[in-house]
Amino acid sequence: MKEKNKKEDDLMEKIVSLCKRRGFVFQGSEIYGGFAGTYDWGHLGLALKNNLKQNWWKKFVDNRRDMYGIDAAILMNAKVWEATGHVANFADPLDGKQFNTMLKTEVGAKKEEVAISYLRPETAQGMFVNFKNTVDVFHPKLPFGMAQIGKAFRNEIAPRDFLFRQREFEQMEIEYFVRQEDWEKHFEYWKDEMLDWMQDLGFDMTKIHELEVEKKDRAHYSKRTIDFEFDYPFGRKELFGLAYRADFDLINHKLEYIDEEKGEKIIPHVIEPTFGVDRAVLALLLSVYVEDNKNGEIRSYLKFKSNIAPVICAVSPLLKNKPELVKYAENKVFRLLKAEFGRVVWDDNGNIGKRYRRQDEIGTPFCIVVDFDTLTDDTVTVRDRDTGEQERVKVTDLKKYIQEKI
Ligand code: GAP
Repeated sequence: MKEKNKKEDDLMEKIVSLCKRRGFVFQGSEIYGGFAGTYDWGHLGLALKNNLKQNWWKKFVDNRRDMYGIDAAILMNAKVWEATGHVANFADPLDGKQFNTMLKTEVGAKKEEVAISYLRPETAQGMFVNFKNTVDVFHPKLPFGMAQIGKAFRNEIAPRDFLFRQREFEQMEIEYFVRQEDWEKHFEYWKDEMLDWMQDLGFDMTKIHELEVEKKDRAHYSKRTIDFEFDYPFGRKELFGLAYRADFDLINHKLEYIDEEKGEKIIPHVIEPTFGVDRAVLALLLSVYVEDNKNGEIRSYLKFKSNIAPVICAVSPLLKNKPELVKYAENKVFRLLKAEFGRVVWDDNGNIGKRYRRQDEIGTPFCIVVDFDTLTDDTVTVRDRDTGEQERVKVTDLKKYIQEKI
């Protein structure tokens, strides 16, 4: 048991250190000693996070006919949070008294005009308060959904475990409006959709477990919740959630829906699939981190699927002081691939072995090297991250070769 715990602690340390060393995630306000519960995203972490969010948006918004996006303000009228019960109930126990975890702020310059506001603790309310706008503009038929990706803030009593529990984080949420009698059917459907997305992105599905949350542990607005838990090194804990919010929010905001065909007024019920971006990144890193032994040397790499890898391929001239190699690599390979795939980097730092290690560590699926043979036969070496195997590929076939692999 002790040995297992040590291994898990080590893994977490390795991930945190890799994130810093390779420019994925830095501690927030680091040069001033940090600021608890905040992290800053470096170039590669940002690329990973953007790919993840774009992938989510494509599946749940762009590829559907029944979903409407919104990007609501983070600062909202305090009445929103009074109506939803967050002011009264959004609290964690602290020293026997309840501590409200919403981050309060003051808005306005003149004393008499200053209003209390809260940095939103969930993106969900940005959708509910725009329910009427969306219905009035798009006239959607039930069932339909609203989707939002954005920051959320919670004054967590004890932020910890790297990206797991922060005070500022990001959510990707859907509020799906259904007829009351259909809620169970849609709940099951969304459970499968969430699992599908996790599978498609490359989460280690053996580490994901469903937990039926007991009434006493559910949020105040939920009539049923399933947590998708993940086996993190620090324990099995919540990754994402799926809640049946029933008509709680629409009733509290005094909102309703008119079925134009039937001419009836109803209050739709809500199924809410919710995804934390930061926890998704952490669980993904833990899912794809691999160590193997290559010719007696331990190497670590991130086995990202190419749909989310921050970099798809790195292009290198074998030697950076040979202008003919550099010119060929730049003009005939790098530019071609950059225009096609975007996520392509130039890497001529150190020897080839070092470049491979560096690209392995950030999870780049392919390294392409221009060498002296290239100058005579127009072929390049393509090295596969996972197997370490190398193939000669004609430059004219390179785009197709990579497209097929990804
Ligand atoms: N609108 C529903 C809602 O906000 P939640 O379970 O409180 O539900 C949703 O939060 C998701 O947001 C969680 O499943 C988790 O992925 C993420 N999350 C919540 N608190 C977080 C925190 N302090 N740090 C990082 N992510 C967090």
